[in-house]
Amino acid sequence: MSSSTSFKALRVHQVEKATQSRLETIRLDDLNPGAVVVKVAYSSLNYKDALAVTGKGRIMRGYPRVAGIDLSGVVESSADPAFKPGDKVLVTGNNIGEALDGGLAEFARLPADALVPLPRGLSLFEAMALGTAGFTAALGLRRMLENHQAPELGPIVVTGPTGGVGSVAIELFSRLGFTVAALTGKAAQADYLRKLGASEIVDRTTLDLGSKPMEAARWGGAVDNLGGDTLTYLTRTVRPWGNIASIGLAQSHVLNTTVMPFILRGVSLLGINSVECPRPWRVAVWDKLAGEWKPQHLAAIAPRVVGLEDVAKVCDELIAGKALGRTVVRIGGDL
Ligand SMILES: NC(=O)c1ccc[n+]([C@@H]2O[C@H](COP(=O)([O-])OP(=O)(O)OC[C@H]3O[C@@H](n4cnc5c(N)ncnc54)[C@H](OP(=O)(O)O)[C@@H]3O)[C@@H](O)[C@H]2O)c1
Repeated sequence: MSSSTSFKALRVHQVEKATQSRLETIRLDDLNPGAVVVKVAYSSLNYKDALAVTGKGRIMRGYPRVAGIDLSGVVESSADPAFKPGDKVLVTGNNIGEALDGGLAEFARLPADALVPLPRGLSLFEAMALGTAGFTAALGLRRMLENHQAPELGPIVVTGPTGGVGSVAIELFSRLGFTVAALTGKAAQADYLRKLGASEIVDRTTLDLGSKPMEAARWGGAVDNLGGDTLTYLTRTVRPWGNIASIGLAQSHVLNTTVMPFILRGVSLLGINSVECPRPWRVAVWDKLAGEWKPQHLAAIAPRVVGLEDVAKVCDELIAGKALGRTVVRIGGDL
């Protein structure tokens, strides 16, 4: 393709301090420079995409910017010897859809080190059914296992469990032999959560969060997508030597806690950053997701496939906390 070939992209603009997203026709030269041009097959929608597209959060670093922190596709051309035309690749994070143009477009142009070769065992579609959410859940699992999380410590509680990260986390931990509890604002979705592997459903809206620095220790460990008072509650209630993977802030970025759980129970708060994760970890985690950790319920976890024209509507739903599982965006489809 030539640099003047035009294609569709969902771009975010800043107009007089307000954010506007629109589907428009752009050219390759409108994208950030990069050694590899990828024909995009699929992208996906994460909470962060919703913040960027709706303007509810300051995600973009520079405008105009193609949205989309995820993509899978096929290399169209490459000036880097690591990739050649026809190679299947995926990208999650690595600053795409933030500082670099992202995956919600028919083509992307990226630095070679942002790309991961599609691992054997995953299709282009499955890579995006997992996307950043699935990758992040798996990175949390890896960090917790490295810090000695074991089923014997007790049940893992997952917050925001009907969302993308939470859904994949439930399946991953239950497959590895952990007992999993889902702490949800959508108790009506109990069947969905049980299907993924949750054996206990806890209603977040009626849960007593306690007020003491430490309350009765109930959870062996936790995967937290909410932050705020929910994360405070987790620090109070995780058992000795348990880990809390701090992933999200869907409730709040604020954390009010004390050092008591850390120094008296040996609890660990593990930070998870999927965007700038070291490349060897990234490749290793994707290999796990394509192999022994591959979720068996991907069709249930990613039940919805939409087009670029539907992205804005789905982003509004994600911001309203109405998500159920993951949404894949079909762009070129299977290439
Ligand atoms: N650290 C990283 O690298 C990284 C990577 C990916 C995502 N994240 C963050 O992790 C979080 C989850 O991401 P996601 O893609 O899974 O999001 P998502 O699909 O939109 O799911 C978020 C879930 O959180 C709950 N929720 C939403 N809004 C809420 C609110 N105002 N108060 C309380 N609960 C709320 C809902 O679950 P229930 O109704 O079941 O409670 C919702 O399904 C987000 O904050 C995201 O930015 C971080």
